[in-house]
Amino acid sequence: MQKITIAIDGYSSTGKSTIAKQLAKALEYVYVDTGAMYRAVTLFAMRNGFIEEKTIETEALVKLLPKINLKFEYNDALGFAEMYLNGENVEKEIRTLEVSRNVSEIAAIEQVRFKLVEMQQKMGEEKGVVMDGRDIGTVVFPNAALKLFMTASAEKRASRRYKELLDRGDDVTFDEVLKNVEHRDYLDSHREVSPLKLADDAIEFDNSDMGLEEQFERILNYAKRVMEKQ
Ligand code: DC
Repeated sequence: MQKITIAIDGYSSTGKSTIAKQLAKALEYVYVDTGAMYRAVTLFAMRNGFIEEKTIETEALVKLLPKINLKFEYNDALGFAEMYLNGENVEKEIRTLEVSRNVSEIAAIEQVRFKLVEMQQKMGEEKGVVMDGRDIGTVVFPNAALKLFMTASAEKRASRRYKELLDRGDDVTFDEVLKNVEHRDYLDSHREVSPLKLADDAIEFDNSDMGLEEQFERILNYAKRVMEKQ
């Protein structure tokens, strides 16, 4: 069957990466988590002292962009690729609430987006890729054969994320997580460069009240139908 590009966009914590990983495994495609790339640049900015009390030293960060090397390396045991920042595995560090608090501002910087979008387009050149993010169906792969747009209520999403953070041992409250989810929704959909929005030809998928298995079956069916038509 002809390989296609699958673009998955949507609000934070809508289970984009879960469905993307499931699809990639079932179809033997490459999965690319573009949020991890924005998170890694954010971690780099934090470590270099470019983010203080919400003020970002954009110019200093942009100057150092060529020195940021991002790489995904497949981890057999985990079954997905982990993020490496300048040779260091930062998979854990990029998932903290601290990084989540700063990432939307970093993702709104035009030069950061330019660099990452270019990398993402290269990764998808050969097709056979499932990529998730905010602008995949609108900017990175406007011609993707299948575009999904995931939504769920902010409360449902915050409770999923809260559970994840507690399981990791993070000391957070539900309220903090809900505020972060709502704040990121606002910033991601109101920024000037490539805001999060539904592509005209995307399928909107609300999974507030849907189990993972049912969601996977339905989406895999969409993908197969699209692949058959190629
Ligand atoms: O998917 P995530 O929550 O890990 O993404 C982290 C942040 O990165 C999110 O708040 C918005 C930003 N992002 C983006 O602007 N464009 C993408 N393609 C992916 C993520």
